[in-house]
Amino acid sequence: MQNYRVAILGCRNRGTAEARAYHAHPRTDIVALCDLVQELLDTLGAEVGVPPSARYRDLDAMMREVQPDIVAIPVGIEFHYPLAMRVLEYGANIEVEKPLCQDLAQADEIIAKAEQKGVRVAVHQQGRVSPYMQAVAQANAAGRIGQVRYIYGSGKGYYGGYGLLDIGTHMLNNMLRFGGHVRSVSGIATTDGHRIGPEDVLEGPRGSGTIAGEHVTATLEFDHNATGTLLQHRFPGVGAASAAYTLEVYGTEGRLVMNASKRVEGAWWLPHPHHLPGGEHGNWQPLDPLYPDHYDPRSPADPADYWFVEEYVRALDEGRDHECSGIEGRHIMEIMLGVFESAVYGRRVDLPQPQRDHPLVRWRREQGAGPPTPMPRDLHEWYAAEDQRLGRA
Ligand SMILES: NC(=O)c1ccc[n+]([C@@H]2O[C@H](COP(=O)([O-])OP(=O)(O)OC[C@H]3O[C@@H](n4cnc5c(N)ncnc54)[C@H](O)[C@@H]3O)[C@@H](O)[C@H]2O)c1
Repeated sequence: MQNYRVAILGCRNRGTAEARAYHAHPRTDIVALCDLVQELLDTLGAEVGVPPSARYRDLDAMMREVQPDIVAIPVGIEFHYPLAMRVLEYGANIEVEKPLCQDLAQADEIIAKAEQKGVRVAVHQQGRVSPYMQAVAQANAAGRIGQVRYIYGSGKGYYGGYGLLDIGTHMLNNMLRFGGHVRSVSGIATTDGHRIGPEDVLEGPRGSGTIAGEHVTATLEFDHNATGTLLQHRFPGVGAASAAYTLEVYGTEGRLVMNASKRVEGAWWLPHPHHLPGGEHGNWQPLDPLYPDHYDPRSPADPADYWFVEEYVRALDEGRDHECSGIEGRHIMEIMLGVFESAVYGRRVDLPQPQRDHPLVRWRREQGAGPPTPMPRDLHEWYAAEDQRLGRA
């Protein structure tokens, strides 16, 4: 089997993490790097063995000269769509950081362009293939909880509407692995204790697009005869409730839990459908994380990112989509924007939505308000500006 030739477009935090995984994997070779900042190119190039001649500042030059099989696009969210479209034009498989893009019209264009070029899209939502998720999926496939009937997911305490697009993307992707696709969503979004109004529709931090709601709660109806709840509730501080970052799968005969926070990371199985503290009904049994045979724990590659690469290699070898495909990524956008749509219009939203524009932008327009006022891109500055707006500064 030939190795896949990989280019990394964007060499800061996430680009470095992804490059480490592709560098460590025996079936992928990093053949080029691209960034606007020379220092980042040189630091990462030295670490993963990409020579100066293959370090690019111009992505078109890189694509023309190197013709990689896979291009990883770990850049700010507002750049996902334009850069994905530019790279797809060259007929390369891509993986984009999460979430796929900012609205459904963009998602449709990305999927259509990939289909036209005959290439694959993956979204870097590595949690779905992480070592503990593999353990939970294996336990479920072995029938250890019977039939899945309900799935609970929580974010890690970011401002709800932003958390939905940031951590909610990962959590929804995890939930889809057990429930299948989502047929309908109902959402409630509150800010400062009241139901959101047009003034609470905001430009989100970190290029996330338009968001709303300090506390967002969603009810999900899955294809596989299950329902679910997704919580994205703001806790004091900025993302200070990372221990809340939990997936729980309820079955007819047992339950599975995975916590993805660094402090209490792990997975557990309860051989009873109902949890009661203490006694046999509180007896959660730990599950061992699963790794690919060739994963070296001494390598700097994060195991979830390594699994993500392993899954892309298997998918391309087998001529199929990645478990975290562009189609899944678009469906997750449909769920997240459906939650916003349900929250502002006060009704259940069936998926996929016929209208592909951003529901919060549409709603503000219908309410006679223009586009939301610009907010700081930096997360901490954004929180400060929002607290000031709410009179809390
Ligand atoms: N999967 C995860 O666990 C996870 C965690 C955190 C963040 N993210 C996602 O990662 C992304 C942000 O990654 P980051 O924090 O490393 O981003 P960043 O903004 O810090 O870095 C992006 C890099 O891309 C480069 N770049 C931008 N446009 C370019 C262009 N046209 N040509 C060449 N280089 C270009 C920039 O110079 C910069 O160095 C977001 O999508 C975010 O949602 C994912």
